[in-house]
Formats: sequence, structure tokens, C-alpha cells
Amino acid sequence: MSLNPRIADWQGRRVWLVGGSSGIGRALAELLIRRGARVAVSARSADKLQSLVALSPQVKALPLDVNRLGDWQQAAGELERDWQGIDHFIFCAAAYRPVRADQLRPDVIAEMVTTNVQGAMTGVATVLPALLARSSGAISMIASVAGYTGLPKALVYGPTKAALINFCESLYLDVHPRGVAVHLINPGFVDTPLTQQNDFTMPALMTPDAAALEIVTGMERGDFEIHFPRRFTHWLRLLRRLPYRLRFALLANVAEKT
Ligand SMILES: NC(=O)c1ccc[n+]([C@@H]2O[C@H](COP(=O)([O-])OP(=O)(O)OC[C@H]3O[C@@H](n4cnc5c(N)ncnc54)[C@H](OP(=O)(O)O)[C@@H]3O)[C@@H](O)[C@H]2O)c1
Repeated sequence: MSLNPRIADWQGRRVWLVGGSSGIGRALAELLIRRGARVAVSARSADKLQSLVALSPQVKALPLDVNRLGDWQQAAGELERDWQGIDHFIFCAAAYRPVRADQLRPDVIAEMVTTNVQGAMTGVATVLPALLARSSGAISMIASVAGYTGLPKALVYGPTKAALINFCESLYLDVHPRGVAVHLINPGFVDTPLTQQNDFTMPALMTPDAAALEIVTGMERGDFEIHFPRRFTHWLRLLRRLPYRLRFALLANVAEKT
């Protein structure tokens, strides 16, 4: 039995997608537009959002910086005024830099922790009261398999994603009984501007379009956790269950190669 209600039809569903200007978020926005959803897209790059608006009269651009509280309030107010609220909130925004121990600096920490954790939670805090009041709707958060276990070069990014995994688990316990769905999305490697910074070979690398299809299919099935590609996430899920002695020995090998 699925942990969330299935989504049978996207036609007319009011989706607010934050982090829709590039990569997975953009591919997801395009797919949802093709499925007939009304999509409000947010990110800082207003010009890139406009190119999505050109695709359909069902699309609305709401430029915002997830680290500015006033931006959230303004965008939510606009959605309330123009669409009388939303049915589905999807958070795809993130900051990423590969970080090893000798690169750990306060500015690098602040950028990733505020955007990926505080930004994500602030977004949920913005939309949740209205969803709970109506006892319906869904919240979908993109975390990452990097949150499963400590990985090389993910000294700050990994913990932000682990925080989101924990946040979604906790949120589900509170809001599922009150009629609001929660999807936790844990992708493996996807070819986007974010991962183009990586200087190592990424196993099982996917296209953003393939990732978007996995996400939408998982939501339609009513999954709580949507993870992909399975041929990669299967191994990481196994790895996180190993005792530390064995896990560290295997990961030390990976760390040497990256
Ligand atoms: N690519 C992967 O392999 C992979 C794997 C696992 C998880 N993920 C996760 O998937 C999500 C999408 O990542 P992606 O790979 O598609 O990366 P991406 O192409 O770099 O997309 C990141 C998005 O976040 C937005 N963003 C960043 N900082 C923001 C801010 N302060 N305010 C508002 N928007 C902001 C960016 O737009 P602007 O710059 O225009 O603001 C962009 O739309 C992220 O949560 C990422 O952690 C990615």
C-alpha cells in the first residue's frame, strides 16, 4: 500500500516549483506543464523563468531568493491572490560545492546550509498552514543520496541533504494524518550545472529528463521516498547499513579515486 495518495491526473493541479530555472527542476517543470499542471516556477534567474512562461499560459514566474523571507511572503501572497493557493509545493533549489576537510570555510558552509536547509524549511513553513487548513495537497523535497551516509567531497552538502531526509520523515509523521502528502526525493547523479562542477566520473549518470520522469512517476504511485536510478541507489542503501568498519573501508577506496 502506498504511503501517500496516488496522483491520477495533473490537469489543472496548482504546483509551486522552487528551483525551476535549471537542471532537474527545469525538466520537472517542463514535464508537469506537458501533463497539464498549472506551474508557478521560482528561482533567482528571472530570465530563465521567463523562457518557461513562454511554453504555456498555465505557467507563472515568481522570481525569489530562498534565503529572503520577504521574497517567500511576496510570492505566496501573489499565488493566493491569482490562484487562490496551491495544491503541491516542490522544493528543488540547492547550492553545491565539492568540499573536503581542508576547504571547510564559514562562507562555504553558510551558502549551502542556508539555501539547502533553512531555505527548504522556510518554504514549507510558508505553504504548510494553507495546506493543513484544507487537509489536502502535497509537499515534495529533493534531498539526495548524499544524505544517506558521509561521502567524499560532500562535507557540507551531504549533511544538508541528511537534514532534509530527517525533516521529511518528521514532517510526514505530523502532516500525513492531517491529509497532506510528503515525498522525499533522493536522486543519484544527474547531469546538471550542479554536478558539472565534479571532476570525477559519476556512476549511473542520468539526464534531467529521465530524473524528472522518475520523480513524477514516483509521485503518481504515491511513494514516500522516490530514489533513482535503482541500479546505483540500491548499492548506497546497502552501504549505509554496513557497520562503520566495513563502510569506511569501502568508502576510503572511493575517496582515493575522487
Ligand atoms: N544533479 C544531481 O546529481 C543531484 C543529485 C541529487 C540531488 N540533487 C538535488 O536536486 C536539486 C536540483 O539540482 P540540480 O542538479 O538540478 O542543480 P541546478 O541545475 O544547479 O539547479 C539548482 C536550482 O536551485 C536554484 N537556486 C539555487 N540557489 C537558490 C536561491 N538562493 N534561491 C532560489 N533558487 C536557488 C537555481 O536557480 P537560480 O540559480 O536561478 O537561483 C536552480 O534553479 C537540488 O536540490 C540538488 O541538491 C541533484
